[in-house]
Amino acid sequence: MQAKMERKIVVLGTGGTIAGASSVAGANVGYTAGQIGVDALLAAIPGLRQAAGGALAAEQLAQIDSKDMGFEVWTRLAQRCASHLADASVAGIVITHGTDTLEETAWLLHQLLDASKPVVLTCAMRPATALAPDGPQNLLDAVTLAAERAARGVLMVSAGVVHGAREVSKVHPLRLDAFASGDGGPLGWVEAGRVRWAHGCAPVSATPAYGVLLPALGVVHWPRVEIVLSHAGTDGALVDWLVEKGVDGIVVAASGNGTLHQALEAALARAVDAGVAVRVASRCPEGRMLDLHDMPWQSAKGLSPVKARISLMLELMQAP
Ligand code: SIN
Repeated sequence: MQAKMERKIVVLGTGGTIAGASSVAGANVGYTAGQIGVDALLAAIPGLRQAAGGALAAEQLAQIDSKDMGFEVWTRLAQRCASHLADASVAGIVITHGTDTLEETAWLLHQLLDASKPVVLTCAMRPATALAPDGPQNLLDAVTLAAERAARGVLMVSAGVVHGAREVSKVHPLRLDAFASGDGGPLGWVEAGRVRWAHGCAPVSATPAYGVLLPALGVVHWPRVEIVLSHAGTDGALVDWLVEKGVDGIVVAASGNGTLHQALEAALARAVDAGVAVRVASRCPEGRMLDLHDMPWQSAKGLSPVKARISLMLELMQAP
């Protein structure tokens, strides 16, 4: 009889406050992110292996403050996740990440990975050296979620709340419960070591829109896409400057339901004439702006400006 294979949860460390340390004992702020190795983070949590329901493996993929996240780490992370997802001995992946750009990484991975298993990002708002750090519980919850048979797709968990890659964003600079999913609400919760799905069952995973780009990510050029804000008193000069500098795409964080200052609108029309791809997202943190009609640009389909930028980069990368 063939022995049953023990499936493992792989934890990929990228840094962040969850791995942060302060020289001031117990401090919650004024620390340095990305100091403690992922092995040490795991070793400090009792019951983690049990939550994994099998073995645990860890890899230190990066050790950064996520404000400094960039294409090189993104490429390595996406390709490493793809290789683990293809490994039959891996049940799920956990990524420890800084809170500041977590939603961007989550959206990028959602667009690239065929995640028929869970890929769970987690983080912390307090450093590992705080009096009451939130990282250990978040990591335990992330491993629990990654080991959950029904879970799939790119998810994140913090403060016991499970969010999906599309809707999640950081909404508070300090609170432990710093993430929200806007109108859609969370996908579920991890409560006392159990996952409770908000709608009674786990969400289905989508086919990644840009999965074909994965193998070439390390060699292709990432298009330059910048975000411009429509605000009172703008004159559009920034857009003209970006076009002059050879920008490939511009995402506009527009007011309300996609409205633009008239000076900015004129500058964007010049950008489109110069061959620059323009997408319009709303700067409102909640709700979803309606699609645009009779405009030389498309709406960002409900994505926040930072996520719309990632989608536009991938779209331009895939363009013939
Ligand atoms: C970071 O994003 O790496 C630092 C801030 C945090 O994790 O809360």
